[in-house]
Amino acid sequence: MTGLDAVHQYAMIPPGKLLRPLLVVHAALTVGGELSSVLPAAAGIEGVHVGSLMHDDIIDRDTQRRGRAAVHAAFGPAQAIVAGNALYFSWFAALAECAERGVPTDRIAHALEVQAGAGVTICRGAFDELAMRGGLDLSVDDYLAMARGKTAALLQAACRIGSILGGGDIPTTDLLGAFGDHLGIAFQIRDDLLPYDPATAGLAGKPADSDLRNHCPTLPVLLAHQRADPAGRAALRHTLLNEADPRTALRRMRALLDETGALEATHAMADHHAQLARDAISQLPATAHTHALALLTLPPSETTRPAPA
Ligand code: IPE
Ligand code: IPE
Ligand code: MG
Repeated sequence: MTGLDAVHQYAMIPPGKLLRPLLVVHAALTVGGELSSVLPAAAGIEGVHVGSLMHDDIIDRDTQRRGRAAVHAAFGPAQAIVAGNALYFSWFAALAECAERGVPTDRIAHALEVQAGAGVTICRGAFDELAMRGGLDLSVDDYLAMARGKTAALLQAACRIGSILGGGDIPTTDLLGAFGDHLGIAFQIRDDLLPYDPATAGLAGKPADSDLRNHCPTLPVLLAHQRADPAGRAALRHTLLNEADPRTALRRMRALLDETGALEATHAMADHHAQLARDAISQLPATAHTHALALLTLPPSETTRPAPA
């Protein structure tokens, strides 16, 4: 394989956790839809996600993703930008294939509307995050609004689209959308914790120093700042904004998050949103698919546990 196809093959195989395709499929099956008619949308939304990661790694100047060279590091930044754009356009072909497999055209149009809205919301969230870099005077609500856009919008869209294409009614689609929204917030908070949590540091397949190098005030850092005394705040500010050596910054930040109790507070916020996600789908008739969705709200270390309440 050569050219654009080679870049796409490298970017998508081996895959990541395939969370967004799983959401499309389980949402569609929750409402009684047919697997074969929604599978193209499940694959298409993974393409949108991977395209966003390719662009995100350029923005964040991260050279590792999924445990190997990021696409821009392997093929060049211009190639990664163009190939990422092509993945976004592949979404339209995927939806057209759902129509060929029997999904009614009014549902295709509705799914298109949801994805178009989510795409702009994601860009707005990513744009807001850029503006937040380099500062600590940010409220938790500002952070949550950004995370809801940057990350949760695509998870919400995946759930809504699965429901719409599967034949779900509006109240059910709204409940599945609320599930995806809260799951997305929990998911981004847990992603923020990865570099600072001894249980996950080094296992994520992406650079642990990325957020510090980019001066990103992620939720654990904001909560530590709120809890710290003036000396602690000064140390946090220095570590986030002025520490030149990324390894030193990471070590100091871990200690500051630990001392202030911010790690536990951040875990608690993620768990809170995971519970809100479960609350949303608990209003639907329980099936193997709502059960599978509920399992996706658990932290990765707990996915072998019995079904959540
Ligand atoms: C990473 O997403 C980007 C975020 C939204 C935090 P995933 O953690 O779903 O990445 P992959 O697809 O499994 O690699
Ligand atoms: C995740 O951005 C959101 C995207 C839209 C790609 P992050 O920068 O927080 O995600 P990672 O940590 O690089 O995967
Ligand atoms: Mg990134």
